[in-house]
Amino acid sequence: MKVSILGCGYVGLVTGACLAEIGHEVTCTDNDLSKIQTLQQGALPIYEPHLDEIVARNTQSRRLTFTGDLGEAIRFGDAVFICVGTPPLEDGDADLSAIDNCARLIAAESRQPKLVIEKSTVPMQTGQKLKRALAIYSRNSGYRFTVASNPEFLREGTAVSDFLHPDRIVIGVDDEGAEAQLREIYRPIIERSLACPVHDGSCPPEQTPALVVTSINSAELIKHSCNSFLALKISYANLIADICENMGADVQEVVHAMGLDPRIGHDFLNPGLGFGGFCLPKDIQAFIRLGEKAGVDVGLLKDAESINKRRIDSFLAKVRQALWILKGKRVGILGLAFKPNTDDIRFAPAIEIIRKLQQERAQIQVYDPQAMEKTKPLFPSIRYCADAYEAADRADALLIVTEWPEFKGLDWQRVRELMLQPLVVDGRNLLDSAKMSELGFEYQGIGKPNADGLVPSLPVNQVTRLAAVERYQATNRVRPSSRPVAGL
Ligand code: UDX
Repeated sequence: MKVSILGCGYVGLVTGACLAEIGHEVTCTDNDLSKIQTLQQGALPIYEPHLDEIVARNTQSRRLTFTGDLGEAIRFGDAVFICVGTPPLEDGDADLSAIDNCARLIAAESRQPKLVIEKSTVPMQTGQKLKRALAIYSRNSGYRFTVASNPEFLREGTAVSDFLHPDRIVIGVDDEGAEAQLREIYRPIIERSLACPVHDGSCPPEQTPALVVTSINSAELIKHSCNSFLALKISYANLIADICENMGADVQEVVHAMGLDPRIGHDFLNPGLGFGGFCLPKDIQAFIRLGEKAGVDVGLLKDAESINKRRIDSFLAKVRQALWILKGKRVGILGLAFKPNTDDIRFAPAIEIIRKLQQERAQIQVYDPQAMEKTKPLFPSIRYCADAYEAADRADALLIVTEWPEFKGLDWQRVRELMLQPLVVDGRNLLDSAKMSELGFEYQGIGKPNADGLVPSLPVNQVTRLAAVERYQATNRVRPSSRPVAGL
């Protein structure tokens, strides 16, 4: 089928490239011409595993093209996917102006009736408003447009695999024609008749994805409900972590036991620095607004959001407690992206952490395998390191902010020797606290009782700290450092 993609962000690029990969002819466009030029030159504006090879293969076969001519792109497809951004407005509502703009363009540029598919995350009833807008904007041309909703559930870092191996495909339609067209678009994925680039054709045995056919309103609500529930689950895990910290239990043992219950499951039960990224924070905000408009008490969602907003401060409280004074201290940060396997720093915890450390005039040195280029415009004055060891160099503290797997495999003995004092605060529970203590680190995770079984939230007994440092110096024959250890 001939498909047009409006908007070349994560959703639009992955959707366009994967639909071409499964055999459709796809033209993508965006009103950011520099992005289109980048794509026409064969480069990608984002880091996403497997996406580069799929884009390269399908542009070569001319099944995938990029154009800055919005009209040309719109006229190309029988089906038009709207994949534009719906960022949050001041009040938390989703900004739908780009959707409205797409309706105006589609009505103005089309030379035939088309299926218009919402793929952007939008609040419920947007499809109804889009239908009406298309009818108004096309009253002169007289072309009839059918609207459908087809929410996306892809995660950054695994987006290509998520698109080609979805748990379910949700389509919200008003008529059989639209349903038939969307079934045709997704047939290779539904029937598993595709050569998957992620698994080199030998995909793990799996269920064929469920195809959920429902109304447009329900399809829109499904997306917001799912993302808000994931946010809720993460905040619940963080709530448990705070109880563990203040009462002396290990949250990882607790959530592991919880997750063994298939009604709960282990996914999205990892406490840490809270949920970031361009989806969960804005989707729970938009869902709260929708609930309020519906006259429903959304206190549950508001609490999940406020628990999330407090994660950074409680993390920095640990750092402050361990270092006493932050001013002039050298703090190493491992991880800038909001999660591993992406270069995306939108609503990333690292951004707020750096901002607050700067306010307290700490010296900041950072390392991230992918996200440093995107961070530099925000923080030009901090030190960007060539690797994790350089970020640990003479540091008073090392903060784990993104759980990149490579950080787990570091030579932590070498890290300790590079640091001024062996203090690691792990915002993702990436590391093994027992192993870190054995190596002589003062290690603090999330929702963990500390090595002495003392409840970390109580002021760490300075004597205990000195004991930890002296034990480390004794066992590692390290000359006591000339600069008095912080806090003493
Ligand atoms: C999310 C949804 O998962 C996806 O279905 C939807 O289409 C888009 O939004 P994404 O934003 O890529 O995807 O990230 P996700 O993997 O969901 O992680 C979101 C945030 O939650 C990250 O900051 C991550 O670090 C955090 N998280 C995730 C936790 O803190 N704990 C967990 O257990 C899982």
